[in-house]
Amino acid sequence: MPHPALASYLLRARYGAQAPAITLAASQVLDQLLGHRSVRHFLPDALPAGTIETLVAAAQSAPSSSNLQTWSVIAVQSQPSRDRLAELTGNQAHIARAPLFLAWLADLSRIARVAGRAQRSADGLHYLDTFLMAVIDAALAAQNAVSAAASLGLGTVYAGALRNRPEEVAELLGTPDGVFPVFGLAVGWPDPVRPAAVKPRLPQQAVLHHERYQTPAAEAQDIAAYDAAMRGFQAGQQMPQQDWSAQALDRLRDAPALKGRARLVEALHAAGFSLR
Ligand SMILES: Cc1cc2nc3c(=O)[nH]c(=O)nc-3n(C[C@H](O)[C@H](O)[C@H](O)COP(=O)(O)O)c2cc1C
Repeated sequence: MPHPALASYLLRARYGAQAPAITLAASQVLDQLLGHRSVRHFLPDALPAGTIETLVAAAQSAPSSSNLQTWSVIAVQSQPSRDRLAELTGNQAHIARAPLFLAWLADLSRIARVAGRAQRSADGLHYLDTFLMAVIDAALAAQNAVSAAASLGLGTVYAGALRNRPEEVAELLGTPDGVFPVFGLAVGWPDPVRPAAVKPRLPQQAVLHHERYQTPAAEAQDIAAYDAAMRGFQAGQQMPQQDWSAQALDRLRDAPALKGRARLVEALHAAGFSLR
């Protein structure tokens, strides 16, 4: 049973003084979602048999655009492959340590094969929207797996850095034309000695609009307050302190700051996505 006070506690962790009051009935699912945190410190312990199949069943239960199911996932467990993936993603040590790495793929190759066998054209596969649809479907599926993992006590963290060196990742994972690894997910038992904390978010008034978009009047003040909240979070985690806004601007400063991802279009073309 969810504890009635848990949601309020988690909302305070997420929003500080600007936490909205949630007056609906307590729910375990809501508590789990509000308590989300990425885990980057894992025990090396193996996962129970059936974990992968359970996570993939949750993933496949996500909605899918026109039910086209234009995604696939590769479960990587071998240590040499995880070591190499850690290297290819900018030396993310947790990828080598977590026992499971799920590589989520935008996969248009399956429908291309269906078209080939039926000797039908599938010109729609070549459009940007179809690629976007595949990425959206992969993300929804992966997030279902994240929630399923959390419900089992497992920790996860995404790896968008899978797109830093896409050709080498494709080579390692053996992905054919029409398949693009969009992000990864490390899965494992969280290390209780180094627990992750709930990370603050922007206040709702910065992201929530009613009826029509309106640039929030207090945006600058909200972001200054959020910069301070993130510094408080970083201090609590013994991390170097930097304003969120400065981090965001550093992250998006220029092409080199994108760490290889500025050439995504080129990599997609090479993988057979024309993105018309
Ligand atoms: C698509 C995506 C890609 C991400 N890529 C990485 C990554 O490469 N490395 C990493 O440590 N965290 C990665 N993250 C995790 C984010 O840094 C994290 O979700 C964010 O800082 C918020 O923290 P929280 O998840 O603990 O609330 C990624 C998250 C998403 C959604």
